[in-house]
Amino acid sequence: MTQLGSRVAVASDHAGFHLKSSCVTWLKESGYSVNDLGPSQPERCDYPDFAHSLCQKITNGEVDWGVLICGTGIGMSMAANKHPGIRAALITDPFCAAATREHNDANVLCMGERVVGSALAKSILDTFSQSRFEGGRHQTRINKMDI
Ligand code: RB5
Repeated sequence: MTQLGSRVAVASDHAGFHLKSSCVTWLKESGYSVNDLGPSQPERCDYPDFAHSLCQKITNGEVDWGVLICGTGIGMSMAANKHPGIRAALITDPFCAAATREHNDANVLCMGERVVGSALAKSILDTFSQSRFEGGRHQTRINKMDI
């Protein structure tokens, strides 16, 4: 049972800016070492730039996992999953937040600020961060993802 590490990066685009700020606060309050990769204000920007920046920090070992937020979470998850070793999951409910950690060993949580409300997002984040990868047959399946 593998738990996520204590070093987390968070990033968004303009459409996810406010939920990103909330996530940074919640994660700090929970004791995580949080690297806020921006943006620092909600000016229009391109979500792939922030997705790539965050994923590089995971693949080079600077942080253990990440949270990416845009309007829907869709663009962020598409961009993040281009990176080998990144398993980004677009999540809208706590059940899938737990399942993607337990079965997929997801290392990036993607959410859409235009999709999930603040209370639901916090519940998703809490569940994702505390759930543990189960390994075993799920590791075998993850190994088959690489092509
Ligand atoms: C920005 O308008 C929006 O397209 C972006 O935040 C995201 O939802 C894309 O997938």
